[in-house]
Amino acid sequence: MRQVSTEYGDSHTTSQEATARMKAIQFKEYGGPEVLRLVDVELPEPGEGEIRIEVSAAGINGVDYKIRAGYLADFMPTVFPSGTGIDASGVVSSLGPGVQGISVGDRVFGNGRNTVAESAILTSWAQIPDDLSFEEAAGYPVAVETARRLLNAVNLTAGQTILVSGASGGVGSAVVQLATQRGLNVIGTASAPNHPYVRDRGATAITYGEDLVDRVRAVAPEGIDAAFDIAGSGVLKELIELTGDPSRVVTIADFSGAELGVQMSTSSTDFPGALAEAIELFSAGKFSIPVAREFTLEQAAQAHESCAMGHIAGRIVASVR
Ligand SMILES: NC(=O)c1ccc[n+]([C@@H]2O[C@H](COP(=O)([O-])OP(=O)(O)OC[C@H]3O[C@@H](n4cnc5c(N)ncnc54)[C@H](OP(=O)(O)O)[C@@H]3O)[C@@H](O)[C@H]2O)c1
Repeated sequence: MRQVSTEYGDSHTTSQEATARMKAIQFKEYGGPEVLRLVDVELPEPGEGEIRIEVSAAGINGVDYKIRAGYLADFMPTVFPSGTGIDASGVVSSLGPGVQGISVGDRVFGNGRNTVAESAILTSWAQIPDDLSFEEAAGYPVAVETARRLLNAVNLTAGQTILVSGASGGVGSAVVQLATQRGLNVIGTASAPNHPYVRDRGATAITYGEDLVDRVRAVAPEGIDAAFDIAGSGVLKELIELTGDPSRVVTIADFSGAELGVQMSTSSTDFPGALAEAIELFSAGKFSIPVAREFTLEQAAQAHESCAMGHIAGRIVASVR
C-alpha cells in the first residue's frame, strides 16, 4: 500500500480502503497568517457526546489568530499540524455515541474544534432558527458565551449602569444586547465611525482614548456599577477608578488584571445556555450581530489578518459552502 502525504495533512492510503477525505485549513508552526495552508486530511469522527457537521460557515475569533501566532503557547500549547477555528454552523452529518435530540441533516450552529474546514466536530450545538443565516449564526457562539460569562461575573440588577470597553466588536455587541435585555443601562466605547452601530444595539456610545474617565462621568453621572474590559487596551486603572472597586471590573483580554485585583475571565463555562439565549433573543427580534466581512475557506489567512486588525463592527466568517 503506497503512503501519500499532503504538504502537511495527515498521511493516507491510495487503496480502495481509503478513508473519506476533506479540505481543511492547518498550520504546522507558529507564525503570521501565511503559515495557514489548505490541506487534504481525513474526515474527523465525532467522539462521545459530539457531532460532525458539514461546515457552511466558520466564525473567526481573536483566539484563532492568537493561537496561530503562538501568543498563547504557554497556556494552550499547540500540537502540530493543527487546525484552526472553534465556532461554526452547518448541517449535521454524523452523531457520536450518546448524542440525542438531533438528527443527521439538521441545521445547527455551535462550538467545537478545527472548524475552518469542510467538516468539523462540534461539542456544543443548537438548531438554527429558520430565519437566521448560516453565516450570521457562525459568528454567535463565542461572542454570546463570553458576554453571558461577563454579565454573570458581577451581580447586577435592572436599572444599574455598566461600561463596556470595546462595545462595537463581536463580544461587545453581544454584551450590549444581553445587558440591555436585563434592564441595564449600557455605556459602550468604540471608534467614532462605529458609534451608530453601538447605539443601534442599545448603548450610549462614547469614544475610547484619553480622558476616558471624564467622558464616562459626563454620560453616567450616577456612576458605573461594573465595567468590562473587552478590548484589552490598557484601561484597567480607569475602569477601577470609575467603579471604585477592582472586583467590579472584569477583563477577558488583559493579563495584568490579576495583580490589580480585577477579575480575569478566560475559560468558557456554558455554551448550551449561551446558544439557547441567542436563539431566544434572535427569535424575539432582540439580538443580531451582522457579518461584517465574509471570506472563503481558501482566504483563511486574510480572515485571520482582518480579525487581528480589528475595527470591524460585527463578525468575520469564512464561508465554506
Ligand atoms: N478570555 C476570553 O474568554 C475571550 C473570549 C472572547 C474574546 N476574547 C478576546 O477579547 C478581545 C475582543 O474580542 P472581540 O471578538 O470582541 O474583538 P473585536 O471584534 O476585534 O472587537 C474589539 C473591540 O475593541 C475596540 N478597540 C479597538 N482598539 C481599541 C483601543 N485602542 N481602545 C479601546 N477599544 C479598542 C474595538 O472598537 P472599534 O472597532 O470601534 O475601534 C472593538 O469594539 C480579543 O482580544 C479576543 O481575543 C477573550
